[in-house]
Amino acid sequence: AETAIGIHDLSFRTTSLVLNHCELARSNGTDVAKYHKGLGQHAMSVPTADEDIVTMAAAAALPLVQRHGPDRIRTVVLATESSIDQSKAAGVYVHSLLGLPPHVRVVEVKQACYGATAALQFAGGLVHRDPDQQVLVIASDISRYDLDSPGEATQGAAAAAMLVSADPALLELTGPSGLFTADVMDFWRPNYRATALVNGKESVTAYLNAVEGSWRDYRARGGLPLEDFRAFCYHQPYTRLAFKAHRALLETCGARADDDVLQQAVAPTTGYNETVGNSYTASVYLALTAVLENCSDLDGRTLGLFSYGSGSVAEFIATQVRPGYRSHLRADAHREAVGARQPIDYETYRGLRLQNLPTDGSWYELPHQTRGPFRLAALRDHQRIYEAA
Ligand code: CAA
Repeated sequence: AETAIGIHDLSFRTTSLVLNHCELARSNGTDVAKYHKGLGQHAMSVPTADEDIVTMAAAAALPLVQRHGPDRIRTVVLATESSIDQSKAAGVYVHSLLGLPPHVRVVEVKQACYGATAALQFAGGLVHRDPDQQVLVIASDISRYDLDSPGEATQGAAAAAMLVSADPALLELTGPSGLFTADVMDFWRPNYRATALVNGKESVTAYLNAVEGSWRDYRARGGLPLEDFRAFCYHQPYTRLAFKAHRALLETCGARADDDVLQQAVAPTTGYNETVGNSYTASVYLALTAVLENCSDLDGRTLGLFSYGSGSVAEFIATQVRPGYRSHLRADAHREAVGARQPIDYETYRGLRLQNLPTDGSWYELPHQTRGPFRLAALRDHQRIYEAA
């Protein structure tokens, strides 16, 4: 029989600060029900000045390296759309912070929020060629829209780290991929901008078209029928969209889309993203983490995963939960990462957003603010200096 390949371990971390949507609503005069019910968002993670995609990525991956050791990791693939350098892969800093051995290849991949799913597929191929090796896949992003724009309420930040291996403890990647690419300008970020540009309504339409398109391709390639899935993890730029996505999927299948069905399939996946906000590449993997931790009856069950990256590329895959998965989960550490964030008021959030790091290469030390294990300590000669905190 073919060796099972999939996710052996899964861990996520977020930032040290949190802005609650009640506070955002108070400051901009929005009815908070729009955020809670209309978008399904309650809070957003906000980075301190010394946190970025590298520090989050290393913090997310550290528990994996501690549990399994570094020796079998031969590849690190870091997916992000909020990269810190146009040339050097952020994963090289992570490799260094984690003390991984030199005999490792490290690359960065990008296709908006979809990148980590591509990384997962690359990892599966590498493990297929050499089943002794493990691949560290990391999704790390900080989402930023213009201040006072409609997207602002959907910001967030997190990193998810996955160890991909043969004979995985958590999830086996099974069956075909459903793929869907369409050249659309729904969301993008030119190199000279720190914040994304977005056509909000068009982005939702493009996303929902991709749900239908990738599902149809999945089925055409012999994928499982709707009834075989216990739950569906959708990319969650805001959690309400996952429910809309599932409704669209059910309609594509000609199935009943009543509230109970939607709740059963989607509600166990949204808990972390409701309070972390959009973590772009990491979002669908926070949904996956949530469902594994929320449901106690998943041994051998199938979960659907829909990954969407604006621009746009989408993929639908099925994963089968491995018997005994529960004893490998990290629910306490994840609840702690989310619960330990320090609440800030709107003025503090705005101050952090308006703070710009120097771009002239001058020496600049950052205040120690993070509560995480790694920090961006300084900038010097156009270089970023990271350290264990
Ligand atoms: N009580 C309850 N609900 C309310 C409400 C109230 N007082 N006021 C408004 N609502 C509801 C609205 O009826 C609406 O619901 P429906 O979607 O069911 O119609 C919902 O709240 C949102 O209201 P609006 O449409 O008026 O919201 P908006 O104009 O502020 O924009 C948005 C919403 C377009 C999603 C905006 O937040 C945005 O641009 N976000 C960034 C882009 C994004 O996340 N796109 C998702 C697809 S793209 C993608 O997936 C990639 C990615 O990660 C970015």
